[in-house]
Amino acid sequence: MQKLGVGIIGLGSAGLLHAESYNQIRDKARVVVLCDKDKGCAESNALIYEANAHTDYHNILQRKDIDIIDICLPHHLHAKAAIAAAEAGKHILVEKPIATTLKDADDMIKAAKKAGVKFMVAENHAFIPAHALAKKMVDQSQIGRVFLAKAYEIVGDVPIEQGWKTSPEALGSLLDMGVHRFFVLQWIMGDVKSVFAFAEKLTCELDTKNDDTAVIALQFKNGALGEVDVTSGAVSEPTNRLELYGTKGTIIEDHMCESPLMYSSHQSGFETEGWVKPVVEHAPFPGYYSISFKNEVEHFVDCVREDKEPLVNGDRAKAALKVALCAYQSVKTGKAQKVE
Ligand SMILES: NC(=O)c1ccc[n+]([C@@H]2O[C@H](COP(=O)([O-])OP(=O)(O)OC[C@H]3O[C@@H](n4cnc5c(N)ncnc54)[C@H](O)[C@@H]3O)[C@@H](O)[C@H]2O)c1
Repeated sequence: MQKLGVGIIGLGSAGLLHAESYNQIRDKARVVVLCDKDKGCAESNALIYEANAHTDYHNILQRKDIDIIDICLPHHLHAKAAIAAAEAGKHILVEKPIATTLKDADDMIKAAKKAGVKFMVAENHAFIPAHALAKKMVDQSQIGRVFLAKAYEIVGDVPIEQGWKTSPEALGSLLDMGVHRFFVLQWIMGDVKSVFAFAEKLTCELDTKNDDTAVIALQFKNGALGEVDVTSGAVSEPTNRLELYGTKGTIIEDHMCESPLMYSSHQSGFETEGWVKPVVEHAPFPGYYSISFKNEVEHFVDCVREDKEPLVNGDRAKAALKVALCAYQSVKTGKAQKVE
C-alpha cells in the first residue's frame, strides 16, 4: 500500500511532536508539508523532515500528495481549518480540544461526514498504554463496579507571556487540561450527567481572566461520582493521575512513575495480595508523550488505510468538550449544571 502524505498545520509543541511521530512510522506515512504562519519555523522544520514549507494553509489543501491534514493550531482555530480540509477532501487529525464551542464541533463533524473523510481528535490520553489497561480492567470488572473516579493533571506550564493561551477564546486550564481528563473518565465510566466547578486564576501574573486552576465535581449517568483537579501553576514535576475506586478493588495510575499503574483486587478470579504493578509500556514525563503521540498518529493512519472508525471520533471528543463547557457554566452560575 502507498504511503499516506501528511500536511501538518501549526508547528508549536504539539505540531513538532506529531511530525516526530509520523517520522517513526515512515513505512506508512510521510510528512510532505509543514505549515506555520512563522516562516522561519516552517522553513527550519521543513529542512529537518525533508518536507515543503508553507505559511498559509489554504495553499496546501488542494495538493494531491496530501491525504491527511493534521491540525495543531491554537484551540479556537481548529474548526475553520478542519472544515476547509474536509471540503478539500482530506482526512483530518485535529488536536484536542476538538473546538471551543459546541457549534464549531458540530460543524466540523458534519463537514467530515459530508466529505466522507476520516476525522479524529488527537486525544493522546486515549493512547497511553496504562490508560488502555485501566479501561480494560474496568471493562472486565476486575475491581467490581467503579463508584468513585478521580483524575488530576498538575503541571508547571502557566503562561509567562501574552499569547493565545491568555486570549479570551482559549478559556483556560479547565478546558485545556480538563478535556483530557473528561475524555478518559467518560471513556472508562460512561457519560457525565452533572457537574459543579470552581475555576480561578491563582498563579498566572499576566493580564488575563483565564483560569489556571480548577476543581470539578462530577456525577456520572451510572450514579458514580468523580472529581477532576487541574492546574498549570504547579512548581513540582508534573503529576497526571487517575484513581478508580471499585466495589472489589482499586486502580491507581500515575504518569510520574516508572511503573505507572498499580491495582489491588478482591474480585473473584482477579484476587491480588496487596498492590500489583503490571508491566505496561511507559516512560515518565515527558517520555509518555512520544509513546502516546506515536500510538495516536499510527492509529489514525491505520484507520485511513484500513477504512476503520477512529477511537476518538468527533462525537466522543465533543462529549469531553461539553463537560468542560458545562463546568464553565457552573463556575458562572455557582450551581451544578446538567450535561445535556
Ligand atoms: N495532546 C497534548 O498533550 C497537547 C500538547 C500540547 C498542545 N496540544 C494542543 O495543540 C494545539 C496547539 O498547542 P501548542 O502548545 O502546540 O501551541 P503553540 O503556541 O506551541 O503552537 C501553535 C503554532 O501554531 C502557529 N499558528 C498560529 N496560527 C496559525 C495559522 N493561522 N496558520 C499557521 N500557523 C499558525 C503558531 O505560529 C505556532 O507555531 C492546542 O489546541 C493544544 O491544546 C495538545
